[in-house]
Amino acid sequence: MGNKMHTLFPWVAQATHSPLTFVSGFGSWLTAEDGSVYLDFSSQLMVTNLGHQHPHVMAGITAQLQQLSFVQPAHLTPVREKLGERLSRIASGVGDGAAAIGKVFLTTGGAEAIENAIKMARMVTGRQKILTRYRTYHGATTGALTLSGDSRRHAIAGSEMPGVIRVEDPYCYRCPWGQKMPSCDRLCISHIERIIELEGPESIAAIVMEGASGSSGCLTYPPEYWPALRRLADAHGIVLISDEVMSGFCRTGSWFAVHQTGVQPDMIVMAKGLTCGTVPMGAVWVSDAVARHFDARPLQAGLTYSAHPLGCAAALACLETYESEEINARVQHLGPLLQQQLKDGLAENNCVGDIRGTGFLQCIELVKPGTQLPLFSRQMTAAERAQQQRLSAAFLAEGLLVFMRLHYVFVAPPLTVSEGELTDGVGRLVRALASLNCAITAEFPG
Ligand SMILES: Cc1ncc(COP(=O)(O)O)c(C=O)c1O
Repeated sequence: MGNKMHTLFPWVAQATHSPLTFVSGFGSWLTAEDGSVYLDFSSQLMVTNLGHQHPHVMAGITAQLQQLSFVQPAHLTPVREKLGERLSRIASGVGDGAAAIGKVFLTTGGAEAIENAIKMARMVTGRQKILTRYRTYHGATTGALTLSGDSRRHAIAGSEMPGVIRVEDPYCYRCPWGQKMPSCDRLCISHIERIIELEGPESIAAIVMEGASGSSGCLTYPPEYWPALRRLADAHGIVLISDEVMSGFCRTGSWFAVHQTGVQPDMIVMAKGLTCGTVPMGAVWVSDAVARHFDARPLQAGLTYSAHPLGCAAALACLETYESEEINARVQHLGPLLQQQLKDGLAENNCVGDIRGTGFLQCIELVKPGTQLPLFSRQMTAAERAQQQRLSAAFLAEGLLVFMRLHYVFVAPPLTVSEGELTDGVGRLVRALASLNCAITAEFPG
């Protein structure tokens, strides 16, 4: 009660928000204050990639806490050194034997990492414009939120960061050009070429895209998309930035989703699965070419808690666990199974328009029966709001935690989930969505 009275909660009207109170967790499960247990099918906010309270991660943090809990970011300490090398190795995509490439700037979360990536791209190129898409999310600070084209940005309309330009999305389920994959003309790519030309390529500092699309609907890029961005960036001296805050650290079956496209960006932004939420931390990896810019010039950036030793210890323990438990191989194997189970289980549900995603980052797009209209409009009528609340209640009644935004339901279990838990979770989800199916059919006939 005290917590609810004196805590502000993100993204919701406070008066009607009824938070659950959790007191413990382990693996894929969380236990609430009243003793009920919930299957965490969204890894909270796609953060707890290794589940809750992973023993190796807990041990790493505890050991560092007892050794040295803080030194300011301009000093070095062994965990900081090790993490810089490990992250540079995986971000630059070099094999195990080869020398790591590039450097990392460690932050306290995803938004700060994005802010610093933009800042560095502008310093390196001397240009100001940043190109991004509409249906994206890059964080809630002003610069990161401006880059986020989706409706969360509307809260800062009129006070956005200057210099951001946006392109239409490769939203194949609702193709802006009315075409169909895979036989389409990839107009989403020629559109970007045109916008770059119209904006003046020599004025664009960076292109920022999510490695794999996340909370704006898990839109799936055509295979040519990232390679085309790389080609355009190279042709015009633009810094190419992959935001892997949500898609990184094995969530889509590789260290970073962009690497599945064969593209090496100039910067990779990361957070979430970096420490699996145990200690707040984000990072920007930069290529050698970007790093060299700051050899003789000051890097005008800093955060008191940057490269926090506890965060570094947590990150190192997570990286060790991703490797020792062969998490990428698990996701490559179980991800397609998860998507197939969702497709099979929801095949008869007339409110499911599309199911898409990569690995353990899946999205179910809900529509009004027999149409492609979003099930919940952005203006949200009273009937739609009631329907959404009933759906949230149905998930909770099933003991299932999922992440919902607009008319999207995201399925992103911990990457350590067992096959049994995966099937169990899909069953709960299908049942919760079935209750919606009946109700909606009655409320929106035809
Ligand atoms: C792709 C992406 N970038 C950046 C962020 C912002 O990260 P944070 O909430 O740690 O600031 C998020 C958060 O969900 C994200 O999904």
